[in-house]
Amino acid sequence: MVRTILVIGSGGREHALAWKLSKSMPKKKIYAIPGNPGIAEVAECVENISISDNAAIVDFAKNHDVDLVVVGPEAPLVNGLVDELDAAEIKSFGPNKIAAQMEGSKIFAKQLMKKYGIPTAEFEIFDNPYYAKRYVLMKGAPIVIKADGLAAGKGVIVAKTVEDAVNAVDEMKTFGDAGNKIVVEEFMDGEEASVLAFTDGKTIVPMIAAQDHKRLLDGDEGVNTGGMGAYAPAPVVTAEIMAKVEEKILKPTIAALNAEGITYKGCLYAGLMIVDGEPKVVEFNCRFGDPETQAVLPLLKSDLVDVMVACADGTLDKEKISWSDKSAVCVVMASGGYPKAYKKNLPISGITKAKLSSNIFHAGTAIVDGQLVTSGGRVLGVTATAPDIHKAVNKVYKAVKLIKFEDMYYRKDIAHRALAIAPKVDDKPNFGTR
Ligand code: AMP
Ligand code: GLY
Repeated sequence: MVRTILVIGSGGREHALAWKLSKSMPKKKIYAIPGNPGIAEVAECVENISISDNAAIVDFAKNHDVDLVVVGPEAPLVNGLVDELDAAEIKSFGPNKIAAQMEGSKIFAKQLMKKYGIPTAEFEIFDNPYYAKRYVLMKGAPIVIKADGLAAGKGVIVAKTVEDAVNAVDEMKTFGDAGNKIVVEEFMDGEEASVLAFTDGKTIVPMIAAQDHKRLLDGDEGVNTGGMGAYAPAPVVTAEIMAKVEEKILKPTIAALNAEGITYKGCLYAGLMIVDGEPKVVEFNCRFGDPETQAVLPLLKSDLVDVMVACADGTLDKEKISWSDKSAVCVVMASGGYPKAYKKNLPISGITKAKLSSNIFHAGTAIVDGQLVTSGGRVLGVTATAPDIHKAVNKVYKAVKLIKFEDMYYRKDIAHRALAIAPKVDDKPNFGTR
């Protein structure tokens, strides 16, 4: 029986996780390390422990009778937090260190896919920039250059010209150890989608497909960011494509990991490119997506604690996971200047009113002298749920307009791809939901 939960992390994703966990019945005591002012509405935040200090987290969990630890970001997973919790017999949601290599090492993930025939871009691996450049010259552009290790979301360069690709190979050095080895891969031309899935290492169950908007500017232009918004369901993932994702990607990946002696538990995030109706893997992540989680979890009807415990206990095959047939849209409100330099400590107003119609997930906020202020690049993830994507978009932007801080920036076209193709709810049947 889970009575006490500890959430690790401090972003919008972790706020969405803590919020959903707080709906679990009977009510649970929730702690967060370190949490944020939004998470503090549903959890007790413990700010003096670092998320990279495995021993301190294990101690905290023991001392506070924590029954379930939910790990948000990739860094502690790749850093073996789950292994240490396992050793202390504390239940957790998230893959252990070796399984987290699915995100921690692009080479690990690519080689696994190649060995087991899981659809992905063709690629070669290099540790010598000279040979990488020769390969680029041979293949031509567009082409994609990736650092092997974790590079805070910046380790991928999609090069439009051979010259850019050659420069990208040199740039990999700036990622330190993460860029010692690089992957050079075929450019895939299609539409992206994110399918997050719950797994206990044997059974894998996809969540509703989502799409995020990584680029800074409207029209999916400009530089890559951590994500400027997301929505679910993503109509590009039709029921037919979702069936292919399950049969050709998710199930074979879990089987491949098992064949390698690896039990992957937690959330497996498949970043996909849909090319001519066929899903191919762009990348795997070993955790929930940010901001996809903010759009997906509001649609989950099942009790998240039960699902997570089933993942940890290996009983996911017995769990019935159900989803709302509504749509959700998350718009990220960012600090002006993000993803480059931006001001901090700017007072935020209007949240109380916006909250009446939407979820306001905090990503980069702080409380200074009793006032809520900005403290990060991505400040808030405003999420609205409605019977269809058109209504959800209208609703979310109404809420966004109520919120103010100096220099705030947000995209005005989140979910534009879905708006173009998704039916309104009155034009049933609805698409893509399970
Ligand atoms: P990642 O950090 O792996 O998510 O990659 C960042 C972004 O680069 C992805 O969301 C895609 O838009 C793009 N990308 C990565 N690999 C490829 C590829 N092989 N073909 C086309 N685009 C890619
Ligand atoms: N939304 C992209 C990611 O979480 O990696």
